[in-house]
Amino acid sequence: MRPKQICLLLTLTVLNFARVTALGQETPFPGERGKGLDTFARRDIWDKQSNNFLARFVKVPRDKVVGFALYTHDHGVLKMSAQLYPLKPDEARDVRLELKTDGQWRQVATAPVVYPGWSAHFRIEPWDSSRDVPYRVRHGAEAVFEGLIRKDPIDKDTIVVASLSCNSNADRGEREEIVEKLKRQNPDLLFFAGDQSYDHKEHTAAWLLWGHHFREIIKDRPVVTIPDDHDVGQGNVWGEGGIVADGTDGASGGYFYPPEYIRMLDRCQTWHLPDPVDPAPIAQGIAVYFTRLRVGGVDFAVVEDRKFKSGPKGKIPQMGPRPDHIREPGYDPKKIDLPGLKLLGDRQLAFLNDWAQDWTGAEMKAVLSQTAFCGAVHLHGSKENRLLADLDCNGWPQTGRRKALEAIRRALACHLCGDQHLTAIVKHGIDTFRDGPYGFTNPAIINSYYGRWWWPEDEQPGAHPIPGSPLAWTGDYLDGLYNPITMIAYANPAYDRMPVMRKNQRNPEAFLGDGYGLVRFNKRTRETTFECWPRYADLAEGDAAQYPGWPFTFKMEDNDGRKVAGHLRELSVRGVTDPVVQVIDEANDEILYTLRVEGTCFRPHVYGPGTYTVKIGRDKPDAWSKSGLKPDAGQAEPLVVTLN
Ligand SMILES: [Fe+2]
Repeated sequence: MRPKQICLLLTLTVLNFARVTALGQETPFPGERGKGLDTFARRDIWDKQSNNFLARFVKVPRDKVVGFALYTHDHGVLKMSAQLYPLKPDEARDVRLELKTDGQWRQVATAPVVYPGWSAHFRIEPWDSSRDVPYRVRHGAEAVFEGLIRKDPIDKDTIVVASLSCNSNADRGEREEIVEKLKRQNPDLLFFAGDQSYDHKEHTAAWLLWGHHFREIIKDRPVVTIPDDHDVGQGNVWGEGGIVADGTDGASGGYFYPPEYIRMLDRCQTWHLPDPVDPAPIAQGIAVYFTRLRVGGVDFAVVEDRKFKSGPKGKIPQMGPRPDHIREPGYDPKKIDLPGLKLLGDRQLAFLNDWAQDWTGAEMKAVLSQTAFCGAVHLHGSKENRLLADLDCNGWPQTGRRKALEAIRRALACHLCGDQHLTAIVKHGIDTFRDGPYGFTNPAIINSYYGRWWWPEDEQPGAHPIPGSPLAWTGDYLDGLYNPITMIAYANPAYDRMPVMRKNQRNPEAFLGDGYGLVRFNKRTRETTFECWPRYADLAEGDAAQYPGWPFTFKMEDNDGRKVAGHLRELSVRGVTDPVVQVIDEANDEILYTLRVEGTCFRPHVYGPGTYTVKIGRDKPDAWSKSGLKPDAGQAEPLVVTLN
């Protein structure tokens, strides 16, 4: 090295040192990609002035620094995350949880405030879920956030779930029109399916704003929040087991921003869920949260459909302007459904298969995840942009879709999701139309980004349109990935372009297709009802205020739409009412289904000739088993099964 080069190197080193020192030597997100992340919620914001809305928003009066709290409880464990606004250097770094029992507030736990992200986490075990318990989270001398830990609503016939997603940051105002309706509809569970934040590089500040928007309803009931692409700061995310993405469009698979950022937002949004069932982290030490949550006898599988999915770029032939958009008419769908491509991934599929067989504390089941298992969309972003397929949806890869839907069907579950900004009810087809479960994609809370439309090119209904539907294009269609789907209801925005929609976002007369879903699980009738409420709907108008095509009610058993070909010998179960029954096809050891039956007598149905094994138990099919059963073999007498 020549003296001139040494001199240059020294100069660069000194300059670099000066830069790090100027930043206070404490970036929580190392590396080039960590620059400029979460700047409005950093420790050093108190030294800075900014006119940015979020930068001002996070500097709250000190009695308001506990922004909100989220909780769930299941199988005797309460988990709660408290979310704090950025703390000043001299303020305490812990929070206290107090519970009100026998009329007295008692401190039960303290927890450190984790930085980055300013969250604090409580795990209380054992938890008695048979009574309502008021709680408050306290910080310092003044700050308090108060709410109610509800008892498990096991004695209610109908469990109500609100389903929301896509909290546009084009409107920073309150969400009172939605919150006021939800207070009256009083759901037992809130499900936020993703895109709680659209401020890609400012998750903490945007998350605090989301909590501010919804604090009046999240404070006193269990809440599921799962992050989606915009929460992780990307246009799309195919997590591909946690690898490093090559750009923020995400098409290569993986995460663009440093793992410290991803771990932070996963922690803030999902720590309060029941413990992950299979907690081994993925690449870059990124955590997983997939789990189950039972609320009032309805068993929810919380699934991460983005974390393991393969990215399309470089793995499949490009057939449009982007690796994830297909425009080539008449393409061969097998060209993109290649061996080795993942959707839910092996670990989540194993979980779903276990979950489907375990009915402990469950009378009905549902799967919650970010997006839909089909591409029920024709026009994307504007009415001029007709795509055959968008690989961001769970319609791709098709084999992964099949495995996921088969697992959901085996549990007689339906699927709830968000992401699409186009609300729809679809009956999935797996081998043929209508043989799979129902799916309900909720509308965007505010639909001012990337509107989508269901608009068949020939403007014709599909085969078997929904009788009496007010909508023009219902019935059987192939989606752009050649998956069979039956469109039951959709709510297209009544505008052609997003700028017009954005201008109209506070116009109650504008038909933007936004709002939220409400799902009623009636355990007594084993029926599920999907409702869809426009953002500005007036509850006083009753069901007429819902989007045309809703409400829609179906039987739990209809989540399995295979044609019944015969019945096995009737079972008469003694010792247990509502036992769990499983039927296995002996030809391939495939589980046809596992369900909790009503009463003590059940005639198991099958979908073809063959020989079957039936297993029975109280909560899992583990107490009794008989093989070699054939359909409609003429046995008149029920088979008596005595369980202890
Ligand atoms: Fe979104």
